[in-house]
Amino acid sequence: MGRDQPRTRHLVAGLTVHTSNGVSEIGGAVHRDYRAQGYGHETLTMVSRLVHRHFGIERLVAGCDVANTASRRWLTKAGFVRAAGSPTHTFANGRVIQAMWWEHVDPDRELRCRRPRPRPQRRRLFGRN
Ligand SMILES: CC(C)(COP(=O)(O)OP(=O)(O)OC[C@H]1O[C@@H](n2cnc3c(N)ncnc32)[C@H](O)[C@@H]1OP(=O)(O)O)[C@@H](O)C(=O)NCCC(=O)NCCS
Repeated sequence: MGRDQPRTRHLVAGLTVHTSNGVSEIGGAVHRDYRAQGYGHETLTMVSRLVHRHFGIERLVAGCDVANTASRRWLTKAGFVRAAGSPTHTFANGRVIQAMWWEHVDPDRELRCRRPRPRPQRRRLFGRN
């Protein structure tokens, strides 16, 4: 999900939510020219609410580098609290960081969307149809 700047329409923030084995993890970034102006907080707050109150997901987790003060404050300000998790994280490129884990739980979660259903396959006749 992205957030644009109303005047320039530049994309200033992008967040992703990825669910695997029943765990939904959020992460993202604000464009460096637009940091520390509140866009990160606004976007994280809005997406967390959407995840809980529209997609019906009760618990969101997030991981960050222990040394990433901006990320820690960003998560704290949006109501994330510390959670148990692996003390290190290895990225796909092999880089290892000291990790901190966070969670945001909403017991009043609500499923308001009809989950997208796969579209039926159209049969191809004579090469095109
Ligand atoms: C972390 C990030 C998303 C924050 O977005 P942002 O738009 O700059 O944050 P906001 O302006 O909404 O500020 C949110 C809080 O973080 C604090 N903050 C933002 N940048 C900070 C910095 N460089 N150092 C310390 N605190 C910082 C703000 O002061 C605010 O807290 P406060 O109101 O309690 O003081 C942004 O810095 C970023 O994209 N970083 C690189 C990618 C990254 O680390 N992503 C997170 C991975 S989990």
